[in-house]
Amino acid sequence: MNEKTTTNNNNHLLIGGVDALELVSKYQTPLYVMDEEKIRKQCQTFMSSFKHNLVNTEVIYASKAFLNIAMCELIQQEGLSLDVVSGGEMFTAITAGFPASKIFFHGNNKSIDEIKLALDHHIGTIVLDNEDELKRLSSLVNKEHKVRVMLRINPGIDAHTHEYIRTTKNDSKFGVSIFDPKTLFLIQSIHNNPSLEFVGFHSHIGSQIFEENSFKELATTNLKYIQHVKKQLGIEVKELNLGGGFGAHYTKEDKPFSLESFLPQLLETIHLISKELEIKTPKILIEPGRAIVAEAGYTLYTISGTKETFGGKNFVFTDGSMADHLRTALYQAKYHASLANRMNDQVEKNYTVTGKACESGDIIIKDVMLPVPKENDILVVYSTGAYHYSMSSNYNRLLKPAVVFTANGKSRLVVKKETYEDLIRNDLRLGK
Ligand code: LLP
Repeated sequence: MNEKTTTNNNNHLLIGGVDALELVSKYQTPLYVMDEEKIRKQCQTFMSSFKHNLVNTEVIYASKAFLNIAMCELIQQEGLSLDVVSGGEMFTAITAGFPASKIFFHGNNKSIDEIKLALDHHIGTIVLDNEDELKRLSSLVNKEHKVRVMLRINPGIDAHTHEYIRTTKNDSKFGVSIFDPKTLFLIQSIHNNPSLEFVGFHSHIGSQIFEENSFKELATTNLKYIQHVKKQLGIEVKELNLGGGFGAHYTKEDKPFSLESFLPQLLETIHLISKELEIKTPKILIEPGRAIVAEAGYTLYTISGTKETFGGKNFVFTDGSMADHLRTALYQAKYHASLANRMNDQVEKNYTVTGKACESGDIIIKDVMLPVPKENDILVVYSTGAYHYSMSSNYNRLLKPAVVFTANGKSRLVVKKETYEDLIRNDLRLGK
């Protein structure tokens, strides 16, 4: 975010010590830039704060937030495990050489082919969503190679976040409800399957959560359910995954809590509640995505000009669009931006930043104060590291931007910009 930005003597933005304008001339715009040190620092914060001397823990990176081969390598270097949710994410991780034993395969509708891919590569843990998935998995496993499985449960906790990214309402498509008596039968049949090793529960209540209490409530509810399962079925649940959802800072309204103070507290609470409930404290897993990458990301655009409408709205036109920045259109998400080549100029007016896509919903930022933009100014949009590159599309046959990592004054390309040839690579002619 801008209050922590650094600039050089030319009033240009520096990202990981590299001049944003140098990045633009080297890699073109639109461009996704990731400050590598910021990603590493967040990984280290999670790894060092999510510790308790009486509780086993594991931090898993939710790769849906931002994934490519270089990112898998970074996550491996920092010692986190990896959550994948599709054959594509799994294939990327496998190709990067990520240790299969540290991969968790999630998703509410895994296909036979995806399950086979996971089994062929000895993916460490499969997180089952429902009974149908159990049937599919059971038809493919054998006793020689037991598969570690978790079951995704829905504890019905209401996370205070946007409806589209909230996941544990009773009618959520994810997991099985702890209030549904059938869930106990499902747990029993997973446990009874000689080819599966039932290790515990997974839950995820939503994304961009700012309330510490949501996580505490989630942990408490899950621990009580673990006690219930122990009493009813005599099954000891060894591991509990509390999912992701830790909020990030996009604009000054966003107030993420301190991970350094909250994470140890959460573990202490879990330890005490487990004692009270007379259950063995399970190993606790979390899987942050956004909190690891969001604030490390910057998108650079070239401005072509401005337009004041008859109705009095001031548009800034960029070479980007909702194809590389979907969150504003989809979730009415708010962002902050500056002119990366004139960082110290006074902001003067409120603008709506838009791009090239052919529809009125093509809004990158609805309201942002900027100096009066000129042709070829460079706009930087902050906190675009999570769910931007990963949700980008080729709408209007626009090309997906390159991704660059910067650190210690140097940049490296980690994903090439698409070409027109890439766009038509899979197209086939109708013929005569
Ligand atoms: N674990 C599971 C099972 C998840 O479904 C998710 C996110 C995460 C972990 C990571 O959550 P995070 O720490 O990133 O909040 N596209 C939306 C976000 C969708 C999140 C989906 N699941 C957005 O751009 O806001």
